[in-house]
Amino acid sequence: MEPRDTLIFFVNGRKVKVESPSPETTLLQYLRKSLYLTGTKSACGQGACGACTIMISSYDVTNKAITHVSANACLVPLCYLHGRAVTTVEGVGSSRTGMHAIQKGIMESQGFQCGFCTPGMVMTMYTLLRNNPNATQEEMERVLEGNLCRCTGYRPIVDAFNEAIKNCPCVLDLCQQTTETSRSNVESTNQKVPPSQDVIFPPELQLTESYHTKNVVFSGDRYSWYRPTSLSEILRLKEEHPDAPVVMGCNSIGNLLRKGKLTSHVIICGTNVRELVVVETTTSGIRVGAGVTMASLERSFKELLGKSKDPLNRSMKAALDVLQWIGVDQIRNTATIGGHVMSHAPNLDLQVFLLAARAELNFLSQGKGVRQCKMDGDFINNGYRLVDGNEILVAITIPYTSENEFIVGMKQSHRRGFDYGIVTCGLFVELDTSREDVRGMRLAFGGVDKKPVLALSTAASSIGKTWSEELVTAVCGNLIMELNNSHHDNSNFRLTLACSFFFKFFLFVQDQLKNVNSSSQYSVTGLPLTTVSGTQVYDVPSDGGNRIVWKPVPNVSSEYLASGEAQFVDDIPTFQSELCAVPVISKQAHARITSVDPTHALELPGVVDYINYSDVPGNNRFKEALSDGTLFAEDEVFCCGQVIGAVLAENQTVAEKAAKLVIITYEKMDTTFTIEEAIEKNEMFDGAHEIDVGDLESIRGTASQCVEGTCSTGVQEHMYLETQSALAVPKLEQHELEVFTSTQILTITQQILSQFLRIPRNRLTVKVKRVGGGFGGKQMDAVPVAGIAAVGAWKTKRPVRCIWDRETDMKITGKRHPSKTVYMVYFNDDGKILGLDLKFYINAGYTRDCSSCVLKVGMWYLNGCYNIQNIKCQGYKCKTNLPSNTAFRGFGAPQVMFAVESILQHVATQLKMSHEQVRQINIVRQGDVTASRQIVPDDNMFRCWTECRTDSQYDQRRHEIVTFNSTNRWRKRGIAIIPIMFGIGYAPLVANQAGALVLVYLDGSVLLTHGGVEMGQGIHTKMIQVASTELDIPLEKIIISEVSTATVPNTTESGGSQVADLNAGAVRNACIKIRDRLEPFRKVKPEGTWEDWVNAAYNERVSLAATGIFKSREEGFDFDTNTGVHANYYTYGTACTEVEIDCLTGEHQVRRVDIVMDVGKSLNPAIDVGQIEGGFVMGYGLMTMEEIQLTADGRMKASGPLEYKIPCVRNIPREFNIKLLQNSGTVKTVYSSKGVGEPPLLLASSVFFALKEAVLAARADVGLTDDYPLKCPATTERIRMACQDKIIDRCQQVEMKASSNPLVTI
Ligand SMILES: Cc1cc2nc3c(=O)[nH]c(=O)nc-3n(C[C@H](O)[C@H](O)[C@H](O)COP(=O)(O)OP(=O)(O)OC[C@H]3O[C@@H](n4cnc5c(N)ncnc54)[C@H](O)[C@@H]3O)c2cc1C
Ligand code: FES
Ligand code: FES
Repeated sequence: MEPRDTLIFFVNGRKVKVESPSPETTLLQYLRKSLYLTGTKSACGQGACGACTIMISSYDVTNKAITHVSANACLVPLCYLHGRAVTTVEGVGSSRTGMHAIQKGIMESQGFQCGFCTPGMVMTMYTLLRNNPNATQEEMERVLEGNLCRCTGYRPIVDAFNEAIKNCPCVLDLCQQTTETSRSNVESTNQKVPPSQDVIFPPELQLTESYHTKNVVFSGDRYSWYRPTSLSEILRLKEEHPDAPVVMGCNSIGNLLRKGKLTSHVIICGTNVRELVVVETTTSGIRVGAGVTMASLERSFKELLGKSKDPLNRSMKAALDVLQWIGVDQIRNTATIGGHVMSHAPNLDLQVFLLAARAELNFLSQGKGVRQCKMDGDFINNGYRLVDGNEILVAITIPYTSENEFIVGMKQSHRRGFDYGIVTCGLFVELDTSREDVRGMRLAFGGVDKKPVLALSTAASSIGKTWSEELVTAVCGNLIMELNNSHHDNSNFRLTLACSFFFKFFLFVQDQLKNVNSSSQYSVTGLPLTTVSGTQVYDVPSDGGNRIVWKPVPNVSSEYLASGEAQFVDDIPTFQSELCAVPVISKQAHARITSVDPTHALELPGVVDYINYSDVPGNNRFKEALSDGTLFAEDEVFCCGQVIGAVLAENQTVAEKAAKLVIITYEKMDTTFTIEEAIEKNEMFDGAHEIDVGDLESIRGTASQCVEGTCSTGVQEHMYLETQSALAVPKLEQHELEVFTSTQILTITQQILSQFLRIPRNRLTVKVKRVGGGFGGKQMDAVPVAGIAAVGAWKTKRPVRCIWDRETDMKITGKRHPSKTVYMVYFNDDGKILGLDLKFYINAGYTRDCSSCVLKVGMWYLNGCYNIQNIKCQGYKCKTNLPSNTAFRGFGAPQVMFAVESILQHVATQLKMSHEQVRQINIVRQGDVTASRQIVPDDNMFRCWTECRTDSQYDQRRHEIVTFNSTNRWRKRGIAIIPIMFGIGYAPLVANQAGALVLVYLDGSVLLTHGGVEMGQGIHTKMIQVASTELDIPLEKIIISEVSTATVPNTTESGGSQVADLNAGAVRNACIKIRDRLEPFRKVKPEGTWEDWVNAAYNERVSLAATGIFKSREEGFDFDTNTGVHANYYTYGTACTEVEIDCLTGEHQVRRVDIVMDVGKSLNPAIDVGQIEGGFVMGYGLMTMEEIQLTADGRMKASGPLEYKIPCVRNIPREFNIKLLQNSGTVKTVYSSKGVGEPPLLLASSVFFALKEAVLAARADVGLTDDYPLKCPATTERIRMACQDKIIDRCQQVEMKASSNPLVTI
């Protein structure tokens, strides 16, 4: 029997004791499920989003110092925390006890939308400021890199924290004091420190040494976690348990541990072994203890660099460059150098660098003592298997460099910041004393093979050669031969990168030899990164009087979002008899299901049931919108990820384990994935949707010019931070069911659930408090999660919670439709576009879902923002074996408008005219008619265009860029200005309506409900502004609790950028009724208060409840005849974007964006600016980095934000200027405001076209002046491979080995 200790740690100052903690349990699980601290969110479970950021404080008994670090709670094992203190967002401040300055900052700067990421952001900032109260903006942006936000576009978050830095009580330096001093400081500064704050590190942890010095062991059901505190004890344990892994930060091994896949039942945690955390200088180099975290290594190196002189420190300096791009703060704070070196992966940055640096590993065991091992070919071939069972790595020695030795580490990722390298390298050269010839060379690469590679033969053949450009050519040639393998299907790119790195290294060494710095020409550390700045310009009309509308009031939920008190579905407390449901999904892209056997799953203790289509009491097939969809697959599956069944169990962990035990056998069938394959096989849903306006035939012969081409857009994952979630609670009486879910579309959810369960809709109440980001992905795709919970609850008569983890969510749900446009454009010599002949394809996936609508709505925009009178287009929905693609911000328009802009770009290149000239000649003006036969009602499109062109100084900057490009060979800039217009309104008349309910209570408080779902777009704030204005009462008297089918029935979905338009009308309508009813009482007592009039009305038995309805127009749109009204009005905008690319790596940076946007008389300009910035950054992701690849059998490679990259704070425009067009408005909405949710996304194509300009400039340097068909998204790979140069020429001459794992890009 193993000895067992009690795990003791502190959370927000309170002591927590856990008997028999399970080593698989993460801190996140424990916080949320055992301590009910739901402010810490779970969005990925991969350490890749920062939503679960918390602060861990530790006491160093040796140095008597307290350290505070941020960490991702989803990666931290509970057992790691013994003797430490954890601070969560609840410990920072709360709406009841007072908000922290950081929380106030984010509230005041509107630094959130849906707020799901907000607690994590707060904790990252809080930790930074506790460590460094005088942090700079640069430091702040660096730490925020680990926190993803899908809504805001980050700029307001940066602003918020800039403010917070000024007001943070951390400047009092309370946190760094010993207990006694901090106590007295707290007392003396009582007023400045909110009582809620955990400013004092728990004294018990400082005073009781045994927390840190005693060996402890925690035993769960499966694993025992030993935490020794001395080298001798860890060696003894290793001798006793040779198979046991030594764990440190648990960032690599944690995945196996959490999934119960570690074969050894003993785990040895080395974090408290003091001998392992020493960094010291020796005569031969720097000796770094294996337990030193990357963050402290960085600090030590910076300190040492201050002391020692070049050239000794070249390795250290280069290592620092490498360290800054490994993971993010949350990772670097816990990840150790030992864990990193001993991890098995092909592209670990520091590992690869250390190979080049000739590092030496120091192993130790009880029996054999010390063993030194060079990081060389053996290390690569055997990796950590070099270690004997009873050995541990104690330190790594990095040799100094000499006068003639030079070294760099470089990497290129899909996204700059928080991303593994596609290729990473360490490059070292030793020159002879004359500094002319090569004496030694080590070229290490990661990401070019299954494991890191030392290019030994290339290095050997370089010895004795002169360090010259000829050598670069030779090395590149040799590298291509030596590294060419069949592991990747983009070997061309990877080898190009490897050679480009070497070329940069050559330039770098040349500069060092000459003692000059010409890094403006190239850079070994990436493009220069400045901090984010920007302006937001809008009018707050003075004619508003007491009106609250049109004012930038803060989000009404700001306090709760910033404090983590805001409730999302998974934050709803657990019901006593609740079950968790985990879906069982198809692993085949197209197959007949031959058998499903849940026996093993059902045998697992805690499993209650397995449900599938036969358990659906009503109709398993979706009857309405998804006419060809099913809740559970029946006898055939049509894509990987299709839901086949679900396991119901007592808790999530058991349900997840059990779901993997369900055995399914399949008979594989033919598959189709891409548009091209579907065209070839003629796999289409329905026939073509045709648009034929004007008379294209007549201009075919008369147009002076015509060009043809194709362009395409890729897939885009919604990546809302809150995954699909539902909780179904049965009420046995009357067969009622209450469903809490994160849907944008309550009515359809209610309707389809009623079909599944065969009960009338009045028994099914669907409720939404808020949604953690939707973007269209929680319309039809929110139905299955609610369906599983509802069917499970129906069958078991117990509440069922179904929360998809990120991987499941990504696998099951549909995405933005990839598209392809084949075009022929007719135009005159002056650039006037006369006509378009198009075929437009979208990849619909395996069911129709809303693809017909996406296609048809997209085709409304076939003229883009231009006056093109003759258009013919056939649109097709390709049927493929992908999850059914679905609604996504912009709903077809981004794909079509991108195509139109590509066409104009092509025309401009063909005519050798400037692009802006061609755009300006064709731009729509008042009275022009669009492809959907809507008359452009005003000239605001042209106003946006001209103001943006002027404000951004486009013409002047264009010239400056020409000059920059002519003097820089390896860095190029591009600029583009792109207009957009977007019609607001749904085609079916019935969808252009909304309802509201206003309830007034006798204390004067008002409960408002309407049909719009709050998903970050600020709808509740705007609706409260409307109610406050109409009732003439302060905002604070009104709340919106939730949206429910029980209060406002038959609501229109929240989408189409018109939620505010429709619901504002309905709220206003209801409020006017109340106001009219109170008017007689107001007249009787004009000096009275709102409460007086309310009570007087009540006493007279006047109803204080009113419903409201609003319909936005009287004519719908007929897709078949392309007639009628769809655009109530247009929202317009223009964006001017400047970018810079690194021609050698394909990396880019958006230098500046200027947007002028016409959103009418904005209901709330602060919210609308947020929508513009957030929409733009989301579109920027679509245009540049968001890409999904499938294995040949149709499985998605990405399982979450670890592999699927959305923009992070480092990627957003360095200068981001937003202006709302003045003196605009529309009579079509009640307050003259315009819809804003979707249109700004379309502006981001300006990034793509600016990138294309930069690429064309690079190509021009080698004499290529063609219209290069850069594909969208303009990824690092595509940009690099477009910048033709000698390296690419060389790679293209070699036949690349065919990939053994070919991938399909969709
Ligand atoms: C979200 C995320 C992003 C990341 N981004 C990057 C990136 O951009 N670039 C990059 O290079 N890496 C990246 N990493 C990987 C990261 O660098 C490594 O996971 C990390 O360094 C591992 O250190 P650890 O202390 O957590 O090791 P652990 O996970 O604790 O251990 C890793 C392995 O080393 C063994 N081990 C640990 N210490 C010893 C010892 N003393 N003796 C013998 N064996 C030992 C363990 O048994 C285990 O097999 C990322 C990781 C995550 C989770
Ligand atoms: S949930 Fe922990 S990092 Fe994403
Ligand atoms: S506000 Fe950041 S993810 Fe929604």
